[in-house]
This record gives sequence, C-alpha cells and structure tokens, in this order.
Amino acid sequence: MEEWCESMPKVELHAHLNGSIRVSTLLKLAKALNETQKDAINFSQMEHVIMKNALSLTEVFHMFDLIHNVITDHNIVTRITKEVIEDFASDNVVYLELRTTPKRNDSIGMSKRSYIDAVIEGLKSVSSVDVDFIPKTEDSKSFINDKFNGNSRKRIIVRLILSIDRRETTEAAMETVKLALEMRHFGVVGIDLSGNPKTGEWTTYLPALKFAREQGLNVTLHCGEIRNPKEIKNMLDFHPQRIGHACFFEDEHWRRMKSSKIPVEICLTSNIRTFSVASIDVHHFGDLYKANYPLVLCTDDTCVFSTSLSKEYKYAADSFGLGKWEMFEVSRNAVEHIFADNGVKNDLRKYFHSVSKNMEV
Ligand code: IMP
Ligand code: ZN
Repeated sequence: MEEWCESMPKVELHAHLNGSIRVSTLLKLAKALNETQKDAINFSQMEHVIMKNALSLTEVFHMFDLIHNVITDHNIVTRITKEVIEDFASDNVVYLELRTTPKRNDSIGMSKRSYIDAVIEGLKSVSSVDVDFIPKTEDSKSFINDKFNGNSRKRIIVRLILSIDRRETTEAAMETVKLALEMRHFGVVGIDLSGNPKTGEWTTYLPALKFAREQGLNVTLHCGEIRNPKEIKNMLDFHPQRIGHACFFEDEHWRRMKSSKIPVEICLTSNIRTFSVASIDVHHFGDLYKANYPLVLCTDDTCVFSTSLSKEYKYAADSFGLGKWEMFEVSRNAVEHIFADNGVKNDLRKYFHSVSKNMEV
C-alpha cells in the first residue's frame, strides 16, 4: 500500500507554501540566522517544536511565526518555492494548488507584490521536473499526457491560491484579492482564508471575499477548525467553492453541506496532531467517504506535520480499510474539484484514465 500510494498520481489542493518548507532548509536557514542575529530566532526552541509529534493550534501558529522569521529576503522565498515544487513532484503529485499569504515586510523592502514575484521566480527556477504554471489555451491540454506518452521526466501542473491571514484588516485583504486578479496570467486561481482561527472576525474579510467572487476568483475557506457555530454558518451562507477541515461541524452544518455539496479538503494528520479531531477512527473522512461526499485528501503543511501526500493516502487506507483502487479513485475524483480551467481538468481526467488502464495491482 505504501508503494502504491507513492507511485500513483495525486492531486494536492490544500498545501501552504511556508508550512511545506523542507525541514533541512528550515534548520539551515534558522541556524544561519541564529549565527548572524542572535535575537532573531530561538533556534533550540524551533528544533524542539519541529521534533514534537503533537502540537496544539497555539504551538502550530507559533511555529509559523518562527518559519516566517527565516524569510529575510526574496531569494529565500524563491528557494522555498522551488524546493516545495520539487518535493511534491517527487511524491508524484501531478497537479498542485499551492497557497501562500502575500507578505509585506518594509524592513527588507518586501511588498505583497514583490513577495509573489519571488514565488513566481521559484516556479520558473525548477529545473529537475517540468512545471506548467502559466494558463494556456492550447499547450496545457497536452502537458501532463505527454508524460504518459513516453517522456520520462516528471511533470507537475501548479496553480496558486493567495491566502488572506485572519490577522489582516479589510484593506489588507482587499489588497491581496487585487493582487490575485493582477496575477491571474501567472496561474493564480483563487483566494483562501486562513490563519489562527482564534483570531479575527468573519465580517472583516467578507468584503474582500465577495469582491474576489464577483471578479471570478474561486474561494476556499478554512472553516470549523475550532468550535464556532456562528462563523461556520456565516461561511456556509457565503457558499465558497471548497472548504478546508470542517472539524467542528454540528448536525445542522452537515445537513446544509449535504444539500450544497461543497467539497471538503481533508487533512488527516493535521487534524489529529492539532487535536482538532480526537482520534482517527472518529474522523469525519469515514462518514463522508461512505456517503460518497465530494472530498479531497491533502497535506496542509508537510513540514509542520511531518507528512507527505502519499503518507496521507496510506493513513486513510489503513485507518478506514480502503484498498488500492479505492485510493486511486479518491485521487482521481480530486480532479473534479480543482480551480484550474476545464482544459486542465480534461487533461487530468484523460491522464488518470490512461494511468488506470496501465496500473497493475
Ligand atoms: P504561508 O501562507 O505560505 O506563509 O504559509 C503559512 C501560513 O498558512 C500560516 O501562517 C497560516 O496563516 C496558514 N496556515 C497554515 N496551516 C494552517 C492551518 O492549519 N490553519 C489555519 N491556517 C494555516
Ligand atoms: Zn490549511
């Protein structure tokens, strides 16, 4: 099963760029920073957090602050992006929607725009695998299928989602949406709302999210990471294209979900390690899968939660008694929920079809 989950093509729709930084890179950058600026980072604290196998939500967000501290220039953003793409491609992810929060940091001359430019530089600089990130009408149709027709180099389609952090103001959230609109030709396909769920108010982000929708961007929301029935209801009223987590949903929320069929991005390890779900046997993946509800298995943060997409598939298979072809179908069905255009979707459908005819159990 482990080999099967590794080798089959996969689709990742919920991965945060900086939460997916390579551990070795994080430690190297933190160490270097610690040597030059003693007060900038607490290296031993960071090492300790990385090695822990369960983190409260508060510790997780402390970890993000530590990670963000090592981003001291644009080249580091470019490097992290390049490596994250390489890592997903080597795990046989063929389509990746990578999300990241555009960051402004005046002390290093970084604007939200220059941060995203550095991310795009990272996409361009990958050389060990072929990356398709610019939406095209003609070429993208054959990009992934060429791989199947005898080209042995790995190929990955990447699209970007820009995140609004819950600490941000309405104006800052609006700036992110405007940036996403400007960057559509570089493969930005949507907007995400994330950040510490204990922070901020839904009404703060709503104007920006409404504007994103009016302008044709897709929206995905981190929803129900903590118990907050009122916010969950408001989020469901907004009717986003996808929802991340859905851990603290009550019966009434599930009833609404079942009539609206909003796909759920499921992050098993993340939910268990942050204690958002008490144990894997009661994780809502089980019921949703049985009910044939639209869902996608995702990693959230490969670095912070020491996982990979193939590990998430193996975890689901082992925990819910699913076989190889069932896991393949979970992966194939994820294609239906991507934010990229229909050209890419059809291309991926064809690709999964040809793979299914050639894979042996
Ligand atoms: P970045 O946006 O590339 O910097 O990725 C890290 C950021 O993603 C964090 O600072 C959070 O805002 C967000 N994030 C990552 N994982 C989670 C999660 O589990 N819940 C909510 N937000 C998250
Ligand atoms: Zn997330």
